[in-house]
Amino acid sequence: MIRPSIDALSGFVDSARNVVLAVGLICIVVLPMHLPYSEVHWLEAILWACLAFYALEWALDISRWSKRDHFRERLLSFQHVIDILAVVPILAANLLGIPATTAWLLGAFWLLKLPAATSGFSLLGHVFLAEANSLMTVVKVFVFVLVMAAIAMHLVERDAQPAAFGTLVNSLYWAVTTLTTTGYGDIVPVTPLGRLIAGFVMISGLAVFGLWTGILATGFAAETRRRDFVRTWEFVAKVPFFKPLSPAAIIEIARMLRPIDVAERTVIVRKGRQGDCMYFIAEGLVEVAGAGVQLGSGAFFGEMALLGDGTRTATVTAVVPSTLLVLDLTDYRIFAAHYPDLAHAVEEEAARRRAERNKKPDISAEPGAAANRHATVDE
Ligand code: CMP
Repeated sequence: MIRPSIDALSGFVDSARNVVLAVGLICIVVLPMHLPYSEVHWLEAILWACLAFYALEWALDISRWSKRDHFRERLLSFQHVIDILAVVPILAANLLGIPATTAWLLGAFWLLKLPAATSGFSLLGHVFLAEANSLMTVVKVFVFVLVMAAIAMHLVERDAQPAAFGTLVNSLYWAVTTLTTTGYGDIVPVTPLGRLIAGFVMISGLAVFGLWTGILATGFAAETRRRDFVRTWEFVAKVPFFKPLSPAAIIEIARMLRPIDVAERTVIVRKGRQGDCMYFIAEGLVEVAGAGVQLGSGAFFGEMALLGDGTRTATVTAVVPSTLLVLDLTDYRIFAAHYPDLAHAVEEEAARRRAERNKKPDISAEPGAAANRHATVDE
């Protein structure tokens, strides 16, 4: 009895985490805004509810860890420290009578929950590691321009503006705001040479940040492609149809295929529509309307339009949440040229299915209205 209720609570915590964080942060931002007493009352009530949520999450983590190995190590882990920081400081501050507008600022610790709950943060970490050398080069260029610009401006402007450029520290401050293209305008060069240097620093700033952005963007794209490839490769290796292939061929095919996840009752292809791709079922189950056929993991469908006139012969719907590997027409042609045996097997199955459809007059019946309500993946 206890197990299902703990599972249900964990499910609730997982699904509500982002909402609670967003609501909590909004309340923390709004609280110091000198609102009427009744509204402050409500905000504080919501914040207490958020705190209760984090206390529940903490308790659930401890209960989960206690049933696994390395319980002591987990109690000393960073995740446990975050659990504690999310609850204890706010509680202590409120108990010590610190004003609410200050005490609830400690809710900033709730943000520490974000990296663990967001896969994007690990992606970011990988990108920074993978691109560390290129990023370090940009940082070195930044520091080089920064120091050179500060020294040059100190030399050129210090006599004209001793208060602004009289010390190297002030010149460095000017160089940072200029190089980062922030440009507060509180310190500006007045000599012609100083302005010339400033122009150079501004252009360098744009170049440095352009480089930085470009490196991160390509790093992100490469890392995402790598992750997608690994996922596709794992699925391809599992599909029995590709089993006879060598590892090198599986890698080549994995590059042609694109994995998609479809929810239960999603219409994947619809009868009569044009189609220019076929699907391999990596995981799941689909139903071919009218044929009374269900296809499971390892099977393929959508080949008839690809090999025929491009018109789908039946509506295919996901029976359970499924993962499909999509092969586009152009890639199918490359695939058929490289692996004629497999292409032959696809053609034979298409011919068999066509014959079966021709045999049964009612085979072209459309699926129920329920399936029609959903969007088609194929479009
Ligand atoms: P296509 O016509 O592109 O789109 C619908 C798909 O349903 C079709 O390709 C086949 O892959 C599949 N299909 C059609 N008829 C049958 C059948 N009798 N048995 C299994 N699959 C079928």
